[in-house]
Amino acid sequence: MIKKAGKFIRDGKLVAFPTETVYGLGADATNNDACLKIFAAKKRPANNPLIIHVTTLEQAQNIGEFSKTAKRIAQAFWPGPISIVLPLKVNSGIAPAALAGLNTVALRVPAYQIALDFINEAGRPIAAPSANPSNYISPTNINHVRSHFIDNPEIFILSLDDYQSSYGLESTIIDTSTPYPIILREGSITAEIISQELKDIKIAPSTSSTAIKSPGMFFRHYAPITPIRLNACYLEKEEIALNFGNSNLCLRAQNTAVSFSLNLSPTGDLAQAATNLYSYLRMLDDYAITHHVCSIAVATIPRIGVGVAINDRLNRAAA
Ligand code: TXA
Ligand code: MG
Repeated sequence: MIKKAGKFIRDGKLVAFPTETVYGLGADATNNDACLKIFAAKKRPANNPLIIHVTTLEQAQNIGEFSKTAKRIAQAFWPGPISIVLPLKVNSGIAPAALAGLNTVALRVPAYQIALDFINEAGRPIAAPSANPSNYISPTNINHVRSHFIDNPEIFILSLDDYQSSYGLESTIIDTSTPYPIILREGSITAEIISQELKDIKIAPSTSSTAIKSPGMFFRHYAPITPIRLNACYLEKEEIALNFGNSNLCLRAQNTAVSFSLNLSPTGDLAQAATNLYSYLRMLDDYAITHHVCSIAVATIPRIGVGVAINDRLNRAAA
């Protein structure tokens, strides 16, 4: 399977593969035509650059210019769920389509063995966005990927096991091409965790202008087809529910039981909620599409730790 996946990449085709964050749809990052196939398969706007996946810091250093700070972040958190944005090295060999015209590059070493084995077998850096149609919910298990791409002969789906992505949210993106590192996308590795680990590194708070750095970060994203209503305290007519902890969105206004509800983490564990978020949103969306449901009501989720990233994704899904 890994061998076949490597060959698909070297032949300029695509491979969907598991990572600890979400499943990726990979191509040879040095092959422009192969990278263009990703944009076509996902219907992704051409101005949204791809993250480049490698297996070691040494490989990453052939592609991006690491400042001292960038190197320390990589050493502390790779392999792991953080992508580092760096100035692009001259002669990096990365295809222009993958970079969407930027002179910076986002690099990541994933922390899942099958992903690392696959990248090594391919023998190329792998450009990979999440393996879902543009703007839909990212995939966290193999069935999500199959539901989108099973019929595409250009895509090999690498399924060695029934892995459920353990973090469940896309990697944190940190820009180190600026005087102070800036978080461009919240994730499981929070600014707080980075400053705890690397005490003298200051991280600038993200502002609305950071979006310009990442032209692909359009506000509506990660979204189900069914509308979402956030911070719900009760259910409206024809709603289904996504609960958290002891939130109890289960009765409709008329006091009849709701037809469908899920709880991201009955014990109020935010990491578990992050792991479950996308698969639960997909289950609720699938239910809503086949039943008479007008929206998904979501209980309040605390904005602490990884709860910040969960709220970021939910806000984008509801936009
Ligand atoms: O966890 C992840 O990051 C997953 C797995 C597959 O690794 N990948 C992922 O890729 O979430 P994608 O394409 O869905 O999101 C990549 C984000 C986009 O919002 C893009 O704008 C941003 O990374 N990005 C890529 N290169 C960038 C750069 N040079 N500067 C700023 N943002 C960049
Ligand atoms: Mg994505």
